[in-house]
Amino acid sequence: MGGHTVFSFFLLFLFLSYAAARDRCVHQSKAAYSSSSGLSVGACGYGSMALAFDGGYTAAGSSTLHRGGVGCGACFQIRCKNTRVCRAEGVSVILTDLNGSNHTDFVLGDPAFAAMARNGKEQELKKLGILDVEYKRIPCEYKNRNLSVRVEESSRSPRHLAIKFLYQGGQTDMVAVDVAQESLRCIVLNRQVGTPNWRFMRRDYGPVWSISRAPVGPLQLRMVVTGGYGGRWVWAQKAVLPAEWTTGSVYDLGVQITDIAQESCRVEEWK
Ligand SMILES: *[C@@H]1O[C@H](CO)[C@@H](O)[C@H](O)[C@H]1NC(C)=O
Ligand SMILES: *[C@@H]1O[C@H](CO)[C@@H](O)[C@H](O)[C@H]1NC(C)=O
Ligand SMILES: *[C@@H]1O[C@H](CO)[C@@H](O)[C@H](O)[C@H]1NC(C)=O
Repeated sequence: MGGHTVFSFFLLFLFLSYAAARDRCVHQSKAAYSSSSGLSVGACGYGSMALAFDGGYTAAGSSTLHRGGVGCGACFQIRCKNTRVCRAEGVSVILTDLNGSNHTDFVLGDPAFAAMARNGKEQELKKLGILDVEYKRIPCEYKNRNLSVRVEESSRSPRHLAIKFLYQGGQTDMVAVDVAQESLRCIVLNRQVGTPNWRFMRRDYGPVWSISRAPVGPLQLRMVVTGGYGGRWVWAQKAVLPAEWTTGSVYDLGVQITDIAQESCRVEEWK
């Protein structure tokens, strides 16, 4: 593919994800309780790493919220409308799984579902099983984490590289990831010289991106995130992966995303 084709694809992609982006607007829906949906690895592949999210509850989302994996790691505030049994604050969750049952937008396991209840009403709430809720997408907050990547077991050293993004803060979707060998640093100027030869990675699923012919490390990364305002590049300040990256290791990008989605909606605030 020529540069132009790649670029047009990229614009189209930006436009599509832009159009599909959910936002801070309040939506009406339902949430169901499932005793079996505790913290398994889930369709997004996070496993226990999802628990680093401040507020710490996980949820399975409908295909509308999961969005073919783009919605993995998005955070939501869910509030049940039955004020007799539910607290007004609701609960904050991170999307870690897909539940394609189509009857509800969210399926919550025990801790998250019970956290919506007023004191002493947990059992009553679970008995109801399915609740009318309103929800909105909120920024994810990771107070003590930078955006990071974990090298996945599907990587084949040294050329096939698969990375999973963890701890993505803010309220954005990641729509493109590029990787390059770290360009040389001029010691006198302490500045990078030469242009990195960026190559694009493909989304395997959810937060996992891969490239079959990765450059030789150390490797730099840059990403495009969208949040209802087109796209913006996020750059890791230095090499993220060492030349000898190892599967199972987590590498810190030294940056965090804090962008808030910009979108106008009719109902922005809770009533
Ligand atoms: C989806 O959620 C329902 C509860 O609403 C649960 O019974 C079912 O097992 C879930 N399906 C999957 C694939 O997790
Ligand atoms: C859920 O909805 C999607 C799209 O409307 C459809 O493709 C899918 O088959 C539905 N799943 C179930 C379990 O009904
Ligand atoms: C995040 O990255 C910054 C800049 O590289 C660094 O100073 C900070 O220690 C990192 N924070 C954590 C929690 O690792």
